[in-house]
Amino acid sequence: MVPDAAARVPRHIAIVMDGNGRWAERRHLPRSLGHREGQKAVRAAIEFCRRRGIAALTLFAFSSENWKRPDEEVGALMQLFLKALDREVDELAANDVRVRFVGELGAFAPELAQRMHAAMQRTAGNASLQLNIAVNYGGRWDIAQAARALATAAARGELDPATIDETVFARHVCLADQPPVDLFIRTGGEMRISNFLLWQTAYAELYFTDTLWPDVDAAVLDAALAEFARRERRYGLTSAQARAIG
Ligand code: FPP
Repeated sequence: MVPDAAARVPRHIAIVMDGNGRWAERRHLPRSLGHREGQKAVRAAIEFCRRRGIAALTLFAFSSENWKRPDEEVGALMQLFLKALDREVDELAANDVRVRFVGELGAFAPELAQRMHAAMQRTAGNASLQLNIAVNYGGRWDIAQAARALATAAARGELDPATIDETVFARHVCLADQPPVDLFIRTGGEMRISNFLLWQTAYAELYFTDTLWPDVDAAVLDAALAEFARRERRYGLTSAQARAIG
């Protein structure tokens, strides 16, 4: 029995939303309809996190590797993102959700990149939930871009390389201003991290469910929170030490 389990709510949840394609294929539908259905689960997850007082939610919407999917599927996903931006931003703004897109945004069509920037600006003053949407994102890219920023500063004489440690490095990866990921969820039955937030999940609790993303609802997310509350987070300490510092 973990003491005060009810109080152990993750501050930051990251989700690999896997299983849209299979959800559609099982119904003999095009994969793009699975992504469209997945969008409903995105809405439900945002609402869930707002209600449960989660500070930050990061969703893996499009990886650096997803460009290699068939042109038709990539095109459908881009259309979906564009439409979602048009449709959802008003509601996110009204619900005090702050949106940030993380990844190499320059690779997207100018119209889409411009709307992502507009959504970030429009919701910048909001505070009830920080919603991060990872697009054209890869964990290795993130670490490489941090290394590049540090190397550039060092080459300009603005940074002494001897001072680079984990704390300094951590300031340059994406989401540096947010709590570290406490709970990493992957749906769809695969047990992989798939190049998501490699640095930020160093001490995250990992939770895998067979549920396909479009079928994820509050009950599935509540089960993940319940499991999180049962876990003992030790950060390399002994169990007794971890309990002593609470
Ligand atoms: C992985 O499932 C899912 C994606 C690559 C896309 C995720 C996109 C959404 C949930 C749509 C809406 C998102 C936003 C933020 C508006 P998969 O296609 O790899 O599924 P499979 O493993 O069954 O093939």
